[in-house]
Amino acid sequence: MMEGKLEPLLAVRDLSATFHRHGAPSRVVDGISFDIAPGESVGFVGESGCGKSVTARAILRLAPEGSSIELGGRILFRGQDLLRLDAAAMTDIRGRDIAMVFQDPMSSLNPVLSVGAQIDDMLIRHTGLSRRAARRRAIELLDLVGIHDPASRADDHPHQFSGGMRQRVLIAIAVSCQPALLIADEPTTALDVTVQAQILRLLLRLRRELGMALMLITHDFGVIAGMVERVHVMQAGAIVETGAVDALFAAPRHPYTRALLDAVPRLETGGLDSTAGPA
Ligand SMILES: Nc1ncnc2c1ncn2[C@@H]1O[C@H](COP(=O)(O)OP(=O)(O)OP(=O)(O)O)[C@@H](O)[C@H]1O
Ligand SMILES: [Mg+2]
Repeated sequence: MMEGKLEPLLAVRDLSATFHRHGAPSRVVDGISFDIAPGESVGFVGESGCGKSVTARAILRLAPEGSSIELGGRILFRGQDLLRLDAAAMTDIRGRDIAMVFQDPMSSLNPVLSVGAQIDDMLIRHTGLSRRAARRRAIELLDLVGIHDPASRADDHPHQFSGGMRQRVLIAIAVSCQPALLIADEPTTALDVTVQAQILRLLLRLRRELGMALMLITHDFGVIAGMVERVHVMQAGAIVETGAVDALFAAPRHPYTRALLDAVPRLETGGLDSTAGPA
């Protein structure tokens, strides 16, 4: 595999994930390997149920609620196997070195805390800033993600924000500790098309400004174009094709990739940058 010259930030090797319920194991991720270089943006595309979220959550060792999952293989982050870290070390890495933005902004925010307090908590936990310094930083972060009047909005609660604004808040929390890797799992699926494009542009800009690597997961090829350099196509728990986005769009090799591409409305295949023309 061609992975560039940089030592990978993340090297996933032969990752498997098996759910155990009612005694019948079901393997939903089966021998996945990939690298993400520092600062690189990589997309994961595939239809519903192919294992994208399980793969993403495995990197942070987060099991879906109330489930028992067994992970196999290796997840090397800066050369250290995350699957072998103890719980405390893993908690340190989560949010500080690797952060994640989930699909549903409402269920990932705490409804009883102001959004400012939620950013403060993250900063205090991982960076040791005082509460006052954390709040100053939280306000800067809200500004960075495009929340107007951030000093007063910091005291508002999640229900006082629109869906798109909540997603911006979640992104502010995710980037607050300047993670080396940001995992975005369907970050725009719950949003309408205009807001979707705004959030994707925000992710692009932050990635550039903060130098983060980005793992962008979506079932929609239209979202990937213009966002990432390389893409992995997943089907039934495996990676079936990998390539530069342009090459994949121009000449998909795997029949499943072709089928996915055929499902993308023509207008979107040029990616975000080409949507500036007349609508
Ligand atoms: N808690 C769970 N218990 C048992 N099986 C699960 C659980 N969560 C997910 N699965 C199964 O694991 C497989 C992969 O699920 P995953 O959520 O990773 O798919 P996905 O590619 O993210 O799909 P989507 O595009 O719909 O988000 C699916 O077959 C799903 O049914
Ligand atoms: Mg998913």
